[in-house]
Amino acid sequence: MSPARSTPGCPPAAEMVHATSSSLLLLLLSLALLAPGISARKCLLTGNWTNDLGSNMTIGAVNDRGEFSGTYLTAVADTPNNITKSPLLGIQNNTVYQPTFGFTVQWAFIESTTVFTGQCFMDRNGKEVLKTMWLLRSSVDDIDDDWKATRVGNNVFTRLRSVKE
Ligand SMILES: *[C@@H]1O[C@H](CO)[C@@H](O)[C@H](O)[C@H]1NC(C)=O
Ligand SMILES: *[C@@H]1O[C@H](CO)[C@@H](O)[C@H](O)[C@H]1NC(C)=O
Ligand SMILES: *[C@@H]1O[C@H](CO)[C@@H](O)[C@H](O)[C@H]1NC(C)=O
Ligand SMILES: *[C@@H]1O[C@H](CO)[C@@H](O)[C@H](O)[C@H]1NC(C)=O
Repeated sequence: MSPARSTPGCPPAAEMVHATSSSLLLLLLSLALLAPGISARKCLLTGNWTNDLGSNMTIGAVNDRGEFSGTYLTAVADTPNNITKSPLLGIQNNTVYQPTFGFTVQWAFIESTTVFTGQCFMDRNGKEVLKTMWLLRSSVDDIDDDWKATRVGNNVFTRLRSVKE
């Protein structure tokens, strides 16, 4: 058998080279197209988010110092009062790809405060997810009750898509 003869099912060498160079071209092309997209996918907290409890928050523009404000509408509360939208104030690193952040919610319908801290990750499917932990400080009437006034928990937020999207 001459070495130049192609065996069935195996393309001749010239064809293989052609296939390799065209798929390389395709790869380079797709990388060139994707690269700006990837760098643009830096997580900014601006937008609407919802969490595992069904609570929603809206975060406004993040300024060049990383500061932002917004509103938080909780789905759960340990009070008979009617829940209303509450203001939040926070800061993030707005230059890194998966930034850490913190924000404070001053509850508008009860005298208590929650601080959240977390990080924005790109998950395996390229979707943004906020992994957070929080401390909720409730007001107590007596300093002797201070020991029981703080709760801890965690929440996972994803982007809230409007119905049209
Ligand atoms: C966020 O939700 C508000 C309504 O609650 C809507 O007006 C606004 O367009 C939404 N923003 C984005 C970025 O989807
Ligand atoms: C959060 O937004 C969704 C979609 O608009 C809505 O169905 C849900 O009731 C909202 N949650 C709260 C606590 O208002
Ligand atoms: C909550 O809102 C309802 C309807 O607006 C009202 O009837 C009720 O008194 C409110 N409850 C409290 C605790 O403010
Ligand atoms: C973000 O973190 C980098 C270091 O990783 C730092 O150089 C930069 O100043 C930070 N940016 C803000 C807005 O805090």
